[in-house]
Amino acid sequence: MSLESRSAMRDYYDELGADEWLRLTRDLPGRASFEVHRRFLTRFVRPGARVLEVGAGPGRFTQVLAELGARIVVTDFSPVQLDLNRTYIGGTPAESAVESRELLDVCDPSRFADGEFDVVLAYGGPLSYAFERTDEALLGLLRIARPDGVVVASVMSTLGSWRHLLPGAVGVAAEHGEDANDAVLRTGDLRHVGARHVCQMFRAREVEDLVARCGARVLGASASNWASLGDPAALAELEADPVRWERFLANEVAACAEPGALDGGTHLMFAAR
Ligand SMILES: C[S@@+](CC[C@H](N)C(=O)[O-])C[C@H]1O[C@@H](n2cnc3c(N)ncnc32)[C@H](O)[C@@H]1O
Repeated sequence: MSLESRSAMRDYYDELGADEWLRLTRDLPGRASFEVHRRFLTRFVRPGARVLEVGAGPGRFTQVLAELGARIVVTDFSPVQLDLNRTYIGGTPAESAVESRELLDVCDPSRFADGEFDVVLAYGGPLSYAFERTDEALLGLLRIARPDGVVVASVMSTLGSWRHLLPGAVGVAAEHGEDANDAVLRTGDLRHVGARHVCQMFRAREVEDLVARCGARVLGASASNWASLGDPAALAELEADPVRWERFLANEVAACAEPGALDGGTHLMFAAR
């Protein structure tokens, strides 16, 4: 089941193709989420750091890592996404930071040696696509990070997604029944409703438990959004003024890191050692 689900998601990302490049730019919650992810990552990447990027996709964060002065091993398990990474990053200044591009499933980083990387980055959900192998996957990522290094990841959020995508959840309940909808909310596993895009979503306390089961500790955590999933007209007014938008983003980043806000975004970031 786990292997089947993972390869279904590889097909999904192969078919999604270049649309993934637009995910964090086409609407305001996406643009805010990008900034919150970018600023969170900046806390953990020093110039010269060697970074393994897992599930890199077309390269939004490959570009950020290059700007931070990292050397990057870019990986993804979708050959189409890896090619897109070459297309979007190759020919830009960021390409000189790329050490190699490789196909890699987050569940099997066995080709890498213990402590090879200063930072292992898995943004945008590779750990949400590991399903029954999530513990094994995180253990593998922790193994290849240096003892003083860090694994930085984001996973999909059960409660934040439910709130943000409520009309979709109401439709799911109508189509698959309230029991299936309750099962998704209880477990975070979208396979209960068998959608085309399935993933494992998490509550903040489940991420803490996952990290603890893997013998690591959480160095920092953040939601991807708090106020930036709110009223579209008010947010558009803020974004239209660069000074006000910058102040909003600073407040949004601080809000997203509050313990009471961790479950509030579409994604949940964490850094673990
Ligand atoms: C939503 S995209 C995120 C891309 C990029 N990291 C970002 O945050 O913008 C998820 C990426 O993870 C990749 N992915 C999904 N499951 C994976 C797995 N089991 N192993 C490695 N990569 C995976 C997909 O192919 C896709 O490129």
